[in-house]
Amino acid sequence: MKTVAVAALVIVAVSSVFPALYGGVSSPTSMRRARALLRAAGVQPGETVVDLGAGDGRIILTAAKEFGARAVGVEIDPLRFALCRVRIALHRLAHRVEMQWANFFDVDLTDADVVTFFLSQAAADKLAPKLKAELKPGARVVSHQRPLPGWTPWRVDREHDLYVYRQAANSAGDKN
Ligand SMILES: C[S@@+](CC[C@H](N)C(=O)[O-])C[C@H]1O[C@@H](n2cnc3c(N)ncnc32)[C@H](O)[C@@H]1O
Repeated sequence: MKTVAVAALVIVAVSSVFPALYGGVSSPTSMRRARALLRAAGVQPGETVVDLGAGDGRIILTAAKEFGARAVGVEIDPLRFALCRVRIALHRLAHRVEMQWANFFDVDLTDADVVTFFLSQAAADKLAPKLKAELKPGARVVSHQRPLPGWTPWRVDREHDLYVYRQAANSAGDKN
């Protein structure tokens, strides 16, 4: 019994420490806001949506189920990563939803049509130049709560506290 309790404590501690160390906040977006976020990005069927810090997978699952997207979740916390894998299997969406157990600062974003995140301001600050350098022209970024320094919002949804950005055709990420 004592071993089980210690194991549970270790698991909870690891699950709390990872997000705090790498990207800050760890509470999920509400389902209402998750849908609003995907609508604000104008997600189209077949597009690739990448959620940086996928949490319990609600954004990637909603993107695939309700918007017909291909979705990729990146999650550093092994527990949340495992939970997402289970949920993807339960929803039978493995053909359209992929999980990566990784630090999103190390993940190549050049194939993304839409990038979403709900992170600390420090993480958003650090992501801003990476997004500018890697995203293709026309790709959209939706951030819940955190503005992206150096980017001009394309839309701001005050009701849901969303900042929407669009990579310009002449950006650093433009490969044309
Ligand atoms: C506030 S939650 C958001 C979860 C989900 N995107 C949502 O909106 O419901 C932030 C998530 O980002 C993860 N995270 C933080 N920093 C990360 C990093 N550098 N790489 C990958 N995941 C990270 C945390 O573990 C946590 O699950």
